[in-house]
Amino acid sequence: MVGLLVYPITDKQIERTWKTTEKTFLKLVDENKIVAIRENENIVLYEKLREKQVIKTHWIKKEYHAYHFGTKLLENTLGRKEFSFPKSLYTVFDTVKLMTNSNDLILDFHAGSGTTGHAILKLNEEDNGNRQFILVEQLNEHIDICIERIQKVIEQNNINDNFTYLEPKKYNQTFIE
Ligand SMILES: C[S@@+](CC[C@H](N)C(=O)[O-])C[C@H]1O[C@@H](n2cnc3c(N)ncnc32)[C@H](O)[C@@H]1O
Repeated sequence: MVGLLVYPITDKQIERTWKTTEKTFLKLVDENKIVAIRENENIVLYEKLREKQVIKTHWIKKEYHAYHFGTKLLENTLGRKEFSFPKSLYTVFDTVKLMTNSNDLILDFHAGSGTTGHAILKLNEEDNGNRQFILVEQLNEHIDICIERIQKVIEQNNINDNFTYLEPKKYNQTFIE
């Protein structure tokens, strides 16, 4: 038998990482849960799903990809690379769409780069909703990015809405509009 090395490199030659450790992978092979298929010039590995298997996630839309629709999307909004691993805008967008009514007030106590605020502004635009949000963040550098992001989303999309923020340390507990 001839051994073939298979690397996690996409068609566009982007290097990815394996989904599991070698040990877990070999266990899956032993359990006959992996199948290797030749597709054109490549060997592609698939994990088999059984009919009665409880699936791990329904969140499989390509828009949930954190790099393309999180990191790159934030980069495009800010005009520079600033924040490591924001969530995909669409993961939060779909969550808010599923879980809220159009007049709800939504609190994100771990706001990070402000994905939740961005998603709510976008959803309000799409369904003419009137959701409001409160974002709380502890790290100064994340606060700055979060504020800038929300301001830019409002500007770039000509959103006619108010955004007010409070920065206790820098501004001595004053509201800034
Ligand atoms: C995983 S990040 C959130 C990322 C965000 N959902 C996004 O996609 O941009 C978690 C954030 O929670 C913040 N955080 C952690 N503990 C906190 C606390 N007690 N109060 C406020 N923010 C907190 C961290 O500083 C970090 O920015």
